Amino acid sequence: MSEIHPIAWNSGSRILTLLDQTLLPSREKYIDHTDPETVAEAISTLVVRGAPAIGCAAAFGLVLASYQYSGTDGKALAGWVADAADLLADSRPTAVNLAWALKRMLEVLEKTGGQDVGRIQNSLEAEAIAIFNEDLASCRKMGNIGAGLVPENARIMTYCNAGALATAGYGTALGVIRSAHRMGKVRTVWVCETRPVLQGARLTYWELMKEGIGCTLVTDNIVGSLMSAGDVDLVVVGADRIAANGDVANKIGTYTVAVLAERHNVPFVVAAPLSTIDLSKATGESIPIEERPPEEISGYGGVSWVPNGARIYNPAFDVTPADLVHAIVSERGIAQAPYSSSLNALFASGD
Ligand code: MRU
Repeated sequence: MSEIHPIAWNSGSRILTLLDQTLLPSREKYIDHTDPETVAEAISTLVVRGAPAIGCAAAFGLVLASYQYSGTDGKALAGWVADAADLLADSRPTAVNLAWALKRMLEVLEKTGGQDVGRIQNSLEAEAIAIFNEDLASCRKMGNIGAGLVPENARIMTYCNAGALATAGYGTALGVIRSAHRMGKVRTVWVCETRPVLQGARLTYWELMKEGIGCTLVTDNIVGSLMSAGDVDLVVVGADRIAANGDVANKIGTYTVAVLAERHNVPFVVAAPLSTIDLSKATGESIPIEERPPEEISGYGGVSWVPNGARIYNPAFDVTPADLVHAIVSERGIAQAPYSSSLNALFASGD
């Protein structure tokens, strides 16, 4: 197995290293970060992307902010870190893992209020490392739990990239596929290319290839025809935010896949850690959907393929209603309809 490390924290040198995902698969380039401003920029430009991964990156962004402070006043340090948290919070709006991780970090800041600067910095660093390690452990658990839903000899479809690249490692949807593959259950994976940024074609295919999991790249608009031919046994995707009623925000186009899966009786499964579930949102309607630059659609590498001045609408995510979701796999088990009670039960269950 080839290890994939989208995020690496070096404690000694206090450097956050991010794999630049915008360059994959042609270049594997790692960029060092020493300040929260460039981490926020890396999040908004998709150098680091995927819900859990941006949560981890933002947490380390706050650690970098705290180490930038060279004074001795704990209160001044807290203000400095809070400003960095505001900046990072604004970098992407849909994936709740970002706000969730920042909240955890700010809670530590509040608890360590009266302590000296060095201790506050150490506590923040320890919390960011814990967020990272917990995500990795959650992905592995989720993978093993979710693999139980995979039939023998399965042809699995996935959308976008919910893999090691999108998390601290191992992945959510791709974690399920990895675990099922190790159990010998996977015949093949249909990788949807995922217009417009091609996370499927560039990132998911690259990950599966590195791990030797057989897969086939397809365009997003083949989904209905593959399903109607009976060539898909299961769909597994990740999520950016799940509302209390089980509505799922994920990469634009996920909803289309879910509707087609329902039409063809293909189970549509979502794999996501508890940090992606936002019980404060009653339904998917109140989840903020990020709109991204028109250039993601109009062309690539400076070449435009649309008429000059074309009007473009580019939402990055859509919401799949809970009634199309067969199951939500988390690190604490599987939730099924009615989600309003089953999601609550996951939170109540503890580890
Ligand atoms: O815009 P992206 O690439 O950050 O979108 C990523 C997705 O939609 C993923 O499916 C989601 O974040 C889950 S990642 C485990």
